[in-house]
Amino acid sequence: MSRILAISGSIRAESFNTALLQAFPTLAPEGMSIEVFKGIDELPHFNQDLEGDVPESVERLRQAIREADGVIISTPEYNRSIPGVLKNALDWASRPYGQSSWVGKPVVALSASPGAQGGIRALEELTGQLRNLAVYLVQGPEIAIPEVHSRLGVDAEAQRVLTDPATAGMVKFTLQALQTAVEKNTGVQHVQALRDWTQSLAG
Ligand SMILES: Cc1cc2nc3c(=O)[nH]c(=O)nc-3n(C[C@H](O)[C@H](O)[C@H](O)COP(=O)(O)O)c2cc1C
Repeated sequence: MSRILAISGSIRAESFNTALLQAFPTLAPEGMSIEVFKGIDELPHFNQDLEGDVPESVERLRQAIREADGVIISTPEYNRSIPGVLKNALDWASRPYGQSSWVGKPVVALSASPGAQGGIRALEELTGQLRNLAVYLVQGPEIAIPEVHSRLGVDAEAQRVLTDPATAGMVKFTLQALQTAVEKNTGVQHVQALRDWTQSLAG
């Protein structure tokens, strides 16, 4: 069984990105569970002065990432970039220096927007940051979902679903690729070496 943590870059109650992630379990391969993380809105603004004694909300995020076999991040686009709350979460989980929770983690990144371009500029921004965080970015078709509001619905059990077959197919394919990365341990094979190296830099 693989345990996947899903993080929405939006904290809006009616967020399309959150709704999208809530639809993912119906598209997941057998043996994969997906839980949407709640709480990036509880993180304080990142401040190095707080690093010595971090709030419980930060520890909860770090632990959720560390314990997950893989992570899915769905981001909206705010003014050509990712929302500040998501950047804040990426930063908190990248610390303390040399003990980042991200290193080697298999990650699927995607964006969604009611607009025509699907938030592609935010996705490019996000993937660049994730590369810098030394995650294992799961390769597949780049998923930037345009007009996301018209592709979501609910089924008879009030479960969120992706109503557009093409988008659903792309997500299904990508979740299978994530499952393969987890099963083959692709993402984590260099983690110890990376951790040793970054810790040596941290002194
Ligand atoms: C501050 C702000 C900036 C935005 N900038 C963009 C943008 O650059 N590109 C875009 O496609 N949508 C932009 N939008 C629209 C968002 O894509 C839209 O509000 C979306 O529903 C947010 O994601 P959510 O539904 O998951 O909360 C912006 C919205 C806000 C509030």
